Amino acid sequence: MAINRTSSHGEWSSRTAFILAATGSAVGLGNIWKFPYITGENGGGAFVLIYILCVLFIGIPIMISEVYLGKRGRLNPIASIKYICERENRSKYWQVIGLFGILTGILILSYYSVIAGWTMAYASRTAFGILNNIDAVGATTMFNDFISDPERLLAWHTMFSIITAIVVSKGVKSGLESAVMRLMPALLVLLLALVIFSAFEGDFINGLKFMLYPDFSVVTWKTVLIAMGQAFFSLSLGMGALMVYGSYLSNDISIPQTCVIVASLDTLVALLAGLAIFPIVISSGLEMSQGPGLIFQTLTVAFGAMPGGQLFGTLFFILLIFAAWTSSISLIEPMIIWLIEKYDLTRMQAAAFSAGLAWLLGIGTIISFNIGSDFTIYGMTIFELLDYITSNILLPMGGIMITIFVGWFIVKENINSELKIKSRFLTFVWYFSTRILAPLAVMFVMLNALGFNINIF
Ligand code: PHE
Repeated sequence: MAINRTSSHGEWSSRTAFILAATGSAVGLGNIWKFPYITGENGGGAFVLIYILCVLFIGIPIMISEVYLGKRGRLNPIASIKYICERENRSKYWQVIGLFGILTGILILSYYSVIAGWTMAYASRTAFGILNNIDAVGATTMFNDFISDPERLLAWHTMFSIITAIVVSKGVKSGLESAVMRLMPALLVLLLALVIFSAFEGDFINGLKFMLYPDFSVVTWKTVLIAMGQAFFSLSLGMGALMVYGSYLSNDISIPQTCVIVASLDTLVALLAGLAIFPIVISSGLEMSQGPGLIFQTLTVAFGAMPGGQLFGTLFFILLIFAAWTSSISLIEPMIIWLIEKYDLTRMQAAAFSAGLAWLLGIGTIISFNIGSDFTIYGMTIFELLDYITSNILLPMGGIMITIFVGWFIVKENINSELKIKSRFLTFVWYFSTRILAPLAVMFVMLNALGFNINIF
């Protein structure tokens, strides 16, 4: 059955436009802020290796499945799945995938926007030269002072939320395509320059060793769960973001190829960020495992020492704000088109409501770094809990449901006519990974990390 519906929200102008938008969603704070600090907290090389395996064997099949659902349904995640269920004679309860995804997106956005606020603050500090010649101790003190002030965090969080709301209220595609097309390559170039600086000025050999030498003695099931959760988070999987972007995809485009490109670019950026950060962490005597402040402390030391660091650093933080912003657009977009389609809101109303909700929830994250830092649940602050639940539980659960639905509940011919995989071997690989490998791997890791100790070897 050929499926030739089009989206009422318009289509991407080309395959490149989709790749750019999906990469814009994938590449963000997850690659540059989160990947280095959780790699630092989880022992380095082995974590990186497990992360890459998760991208390959879990991430890519789920990404293809998710984009497929969006492209076929052409509506918001809930309605797309409903439409497909009707065509495939399946229970309409599969729609919960979409509902879960929409809520997860807002939960993630609530803390994502707080951290994006930090990058805005650091962009302005760098621009004003406040960081010139700062040393590791100075950078750490400055960061700690910064996060202990709830009002300041709130101001930046508010600013970022407003910018996000304004942009999405104007419609995503017009501006996004051309902006990503110019700024994403710039980010990559700056990141490369940073790696080169770090190679000359940092302890590159030991940084590289930390990142690439796998020491499995530090790996527990929890480490594996965190690496897998990071793969979901970084690739924007399991919550409908790529389903929405897939719904704007025109009919003649190969989903599998496109997804492999997006996943590779995303992983490249994360690895480059690690290569830039770790050598400087070591050479400046900072701690690998210092948590969410890691890049703000190391990068400021690097920019402070670099000739032209004030300009370079400002540009870097600005591009990081931009990367965060293209990701937050994709976190909020599923809820927005759902509100528009289901409740007939205007784009403006839907954007104001969704961004307002994420803003309000974000206050929990803000106080978890200062006045509320003693308030913990299961030993985690509000920020840690939100991050843990969304990345390590909600996104993987969404992912499992997506691959099981696509792998087992959609007639094979319908998938084949869309994915057009020619080689028989690749068709086998596709079905094996969506039907068996990806869902079992995710379940296996989650159950073990929760202490069920399932051993199949
Ligand atoms: N992938 C984005 C990042 O790495 C975050 C994100 C997660 C965006 C889930 C959309 C959906 O920063």
